[in-house]
Amino acid sequence: AEGAATAAPAAWWRRRRTALLELAAAGTPRYAYDLDQVRTQARGLTALGAVDRWHYALKANPQADILRTLHAEGFAFECVSFAEVEHVRRTLPDLAPERILFTPNFAPREEYRAGLAAGVRVTLDALHPITEWGADFAGHDILLRVDLGSGRGHHDKVKTGGAQSKFGVALDEIETFREHARRHGARIVGLHAHLGSGILDAGHWRGVCAQMASLAERFNRIEILDLGGGLGVPSRPEDVPLDLAELGAALAEVQRAYPQFRLWMEPGRYLVAEAGVLLARVTQVKRKGEVHYVGIDTGMNSLIRPALYEAWHAIVNLSRLDEPPTDLVQVVGPICETGDVLGHNRRLPPCREGDVILIAEAGAYGAAMGSRYNLREPAAEVVV
Ligand code: LLP
Repeated sequence: AEGAATAAPAAWWRRRRTALLELAAAGTPRYAYDLDQVRTQARGLTALGAVDRWHYALKANPQADILRTLHAEGFAFECVSFAEVEHVRRTLPDLAPERILFTPNFAPREEYRAGLAAGVRVTLDALHPITEWGADFAGHDILLRVDLGSGRGHHDKVKTGGAQSKFGVALDEIETFREHARRHGARIVGLHAHLGSGILDAGHWRGVCAQMASLAERFNRIEILDLGGGLGVPSRPEDVPLDLAELGAALAEVQRAYPQFRLWMEPGRYLVAEAGVLLARVTQVKRKGEVHYVGIDTGMNSLIRPALYEAWHAIVNLSRLDEPPTDLVQVVGPICETGDVLGHNRRLPPCREGDVILIAEAGAYGAAMGSRYNLREPAAEVVV
């Protein structure tokens, strides 16, 4: 069965099918977001006592109502460009700048300067900023992003550790970094590591946390260990959800062993992926040889994840949810690329022009990665 795991409670979009069909009638393609789902995910995390501060990695979805919802749930924010810093400050005028963590990668000098001037927390992830622009950081508290030597994630393109990754300072360069920071009077108050995205194994953070804690003990001023994001959500029917209780226990264990450190985390996907669906309409159906195609009115311009990472999103025909999924089809978009396929070999009931197709678990890195390729506007966004 596409989408719904039998044991788990039905996805919100199944309960709200009528409202979604009405939305689709008003226009497709559209991303529809459910803020209750965002809240549920947020509360699952904040209930884990061991984490001192949760940040939302807003690159996953910077939509304003989502930011307001997570702000109300007590989240701080992690930004990777100064444009994201400005966006979150504009959206949440009462957010204290020190609750923004700015973690850019290969950004120009001006962005770091702007971040420092705005009073946000800045993470450096290379030697260059501290060796070449060290004076900029004099008297500032900074975090250092380290590369623990390996990456992890749902696809090679989302692994952010190890020799092949452009992120972080290698372990054997940390001493050099410290040396320059000391010389310029910058205080390293935190270590940061993010190994990748879409991790479903809770034990992962136990290892990362232990590795970082032992590293941090070599420094004298470290207060914060930022363990990054990467918390996955199941997408394929066979995926086992992340065990939050196990994650909580692992973090609590590390916290007991190293009470001198405050733990920070910065998930993106976990908070928003399941809260978003992409609604599209069938434009044409086609049979070529043995292959059936169902064409819809948006594709990789709205949701690039299948093309870029072979990501799997559940796809249903919302107009015919109760009909048996008898056809084996390729669900494709209208973009002039062979890779513009949203779902390979999916089971759907016979689809007709005008049917509403729902692509699930599209709230993270969906709209955020949209483009105007082929001058087709990506899907608009609406809160249900
Ligand atoms: N922190 C840092 C430093 C990051 O680079 C990222 C994501 C996160 C936190 C949040 O990761 P999350 O919890 O969302 O996994 N476009 C890809 C994912 C790229 C993630 C980039 N960095 C995808 O659609 O799967």
